[in-house]
Amino acid sequence: MRTDTPQTVRLEDYRPSDHLIDRVELDVRLDPHDTRVTARLAIRPNPAGRPGAPLVLDGDDLRLLALDLDGQSLAPAAFRVAPSALTLPEPPQRPFTLTIETRLDPTANTKLMGLYRSNGVYCTQCEADGFRRITYFLDRPDVMSIYTTRIEAEEAAAPVLLGNGNPVEAGRIEGTGRHFAVWHDPHPKPAYLFALVGGRLDRVSSTFTTMDGRAVELAVYVEPGKGDRAAYALDAVERSMAWDERTFGRAYDLDVFNVVAVSDFNMGAMENKGLNIFNDKYVLASPDTATDADYAAIEAIIAHEYFHNWSGNRVTCRDWFQLCLKEGLTVFRDQEFSSDMRSRDVHRIGEVRTLRARQFPEDAGPLAHPVRPKRYAEINNFYTATVYEKGAEIVRMLRTLIGERAFRAGMDRYFAENDGTAATVEDFLRAFEAETGRDLSRFAEWYERPGTPRVAISGHYDAGAQTYSLALRQTRPGAGSDAPPVVIPIRLGLIGQDGPLDDARSPRVTDGVFVLDRWDDVLTIENVATAPVPSLFRGFSAPVRVDMAMDDTERLTLLRHDTDGFNRWEAAQRVAARLMIGALRGEATAAGSDAFAAALGSFLDARALADPAFAALVLSLPSESDLADDIGSEIDPDAIHAARYDLRARLGTALTDRLHALRDALAEPAGTPFSPDAASAGRRALRNAALDLIAAADPTGGAACADAQIHSAGNMTDRLAGLSTLALLPGETREAAFAAFAERYVDEPLVLDKWFAIQAMIPEDGTVERVRRLQEHPAFAMTNPNRVRALVGSFALANPTQFNRRDGAGFTLVADTVLALDRANPQIAARLMTAFGSWRRLEPVRRGMAESALRRILATPGLSRDVTDIAGRSLGESVTA
Ligand code: BES
Ligand code: ZN
Repeated sequence: MRTDTPQTVRLEDYRPSDHLIDRVELDVRLDPHDTRVTARLAIRPNPAGRPGAPLVLDGDDLRLLALDLDGQSLAPAAFRVAPSALTLPEPPQRPFTLTIETRLDPTANTKLMGLYRSNGVYCTQCEADGFRRITYFLDRPDVMSIYTTRIEAEEAAAPVLLGNGNPVEAGRIEGTGRHFAVWHDPHPKPAYLFALVGGRLDRVSSTFTTMDGRAVELAVYVEPGKGDRAAYALDAVERSMAWDERTFGRAYDLDVFNVVAVSDFNMGAMENKGLNIFNDKYVLASPDTATDADYAAIEAIIAHEYFHNWSGNRVTCRDWFQLCLKEGLTVFRDQEFSSDMRSRDVHRIGEVRTLRARQFPEDAGPLAHPVRPKRYAEINNFYTATVYEKGAEIVRMLRTLIGERAFRAGMDRYFAENDGTAATVEDFLRAFEAETGRDLSRFAEWYERPGTPRVAISGHYDAGAQTYSLALRQTRPGAGSDAPPVVIPIRLGLIGQDGPLDDARSPRVTDGVFVLDRWDDVLTIENVATAPVPSLFRGFSAPVRVDMAMDDTERLTLLRHDTDGFNRWEAAQRVAARLMIGALRGEATAAGSDAFAAALGSFLDARALADPAFAALVLSLPSESDLADDIGSEIDPDAIHAARYDLRARLGTALTDRLHALRDALAEPAGTPFSPDAASAGRRALRNAALDLIAAADPTGGAACADAQIHSAGNMTDRLAGLSTLALLPGETREAAFAAFAERYVDEPLVLDKWFAIQAMIPEDGTVERVRRLQEHPAFAMTNPNRVRALVGSFALANPTQFNRRDGAGFTLVADTVLALDRANPQIAARLMTAFGSWRRLEPVRRGMAESALRRILATPGLSRDVTDIAGRSLGESVTA
């Protein structure tokens, strides 16, 4: 029998807690193996609950040492205790205080949930249900309490002691070598936002004065000696605070804001009230160790976790089905922040690339679920691209529909009306309905069913009438036959041979947006002087797939003339995708790729140096997973890889002179100090995109060029780009470069992660064996999530030809790793498993191999609930999808 039998939690079964916990006083005596936690809980019956109901506190792997009620120890008959629950069958029908002492072994906690140690630093992770691994509690987000935490530890081992809220007291316990700190958080919060930290850490700090005049002490804590790598994160905190005041009128609400970086962390970062805990990958940055992409991710994640202070903490979620209420909204907010800090078009393209690479496949496979799921077996498996990325797109569509002013007013109302409460998606939408007088009930359908809608469009120009009409039809694959149409905002414009047709008009287009809210519609646009090319879904105004027959010449007109940056990029992507998929099907023509190369050439001549970041994106062809997603079924990853390689080589050949010239024009004069700003990063990105094409066209010359760049690089971005290019070119130069890189960064785990990842992504037969070898490397550790993600995660999720090897060796490697990891850290094991999410779309031989790997995993005795859930749903054998 399985120890973790999946139990399904259903949205429709929600009912309020029978009890509330108003105040929590925690006393945590830290010790590596014998930590003692005393929790004093002020409990009362919930007026909205069932009178006389038993009190059932959640636990996970807990050992109870003592229990008393209002100071009296409880008779054994008055309670039942197990590692997973503490029950009082007949609790008092009045307010009472329960005092619970538990004993923990943080060093043995390999799941990295609850209280654990990372490189000797004590830290916690409580979302979604880790608090129950610290003490027995009503571990659900609609139970909100005011916390006071006393932390005690050996002073030499943990000179820094941090908790939620504001510091109130600290001191030594004379004669013991121990000291303590007391923290008080005046804002009621759910248990998942609890945190504490104890350890030897360096501190970098500054102050920020809020728009309300509150002086806030900001600090970032990192491993000793790494303080200089925390400056960028600290700066990002300041910019995030200022931006949220400016953009949403949201000010910070405590006297201190602390960020702590730890090296063992299941996720990217966590928004604990006043004490954000980060994976150090998203804090530490220096020019020699972090790439431009790392700097951008640090900025975005710092912002994301800070923004949760309002969207998540002040207004939290009623239950975990409402996860998108905080995550989708906060991703939208961090995307807006990054767009304001950087180039909006470039950022938007990046967002859409992520959505298409991660969310579209998820939504088309066995793990598809609504943005607000209706049931789950393991909530940790629902922190998905759908909840996050599609959730953010829904918020963006709402803004597009009601306009910016009404959106801001609705947000203000949402925060005001739900402050201090645990809210639902309905509460969110209600605020916008109240503000605009609109009925959003049909828009709410976006939260309800899985599947990416498709919109098929055909255009017709009537020269006599000077009208252009668009016939639109939406379908909802995967949403079920009873699904109603969704409300789809389509931002659009018309482009003529020489530029935008600004005189075109339609009463049904408001501020450039047409709303498709039926299955079929026809939009007629008037005053169209010449046959236009439509620019549709500008800025990717809705997360849908669009089918519109358009020839390459028309798309290249958009690349030239569209005023919408996203659609200019999209036009080039569509042409490239069509060429590659055509080649796969034996329909390619050299004329097609020549015409594309010529168009790219003129584009580069006209715009590359004016906007290098954008040009770099135009030069980056759709990825292999984009193409697989376009093809949809019977996928052969080797054929896709070959077609893509071939087009890269053709473009590289046709554009060689221009690419070399661009690289020269963009080269930084020696001695230029490194700056991570978007403009500098954009120049590096274009230089490196050019290198990629040059190497595809001329492997020998490319290898020399890449190797030279590795040696001359003054920063990690260029060094790593050289290494990534070289990684695709087998030979001794490459292996020597790998060896030298490993030697140079032997003491830098985060840099070695890049080295692991690049090797894991090599699209060659030897990669499975290489990855198995690297799993034995001294720098690799199965216990560290970053190492596992870098090596095995990159292989499974970013090496389509080798993970999907026809002989099944790639699947076997990942399955073996999942099974080896599952007992120690089931969350990370389950994340790895999601690589199997698209197995049904493979051609039959690979499909069979993937299925046997999945069945082998599922048949393994003692499997965690996390992995059982993903494997079961992937095979279509579970009711929890
Ligand atoms: N609340 C999450 C972190 C989290 C997720 C904790 C799942 C426990 C389980 C946090 O706000 C978050 O979303 N972090 C993201 C990064 C963010 C920029 C999207 C992450 O960790 O990947
Ligand atoms: Zn989040």
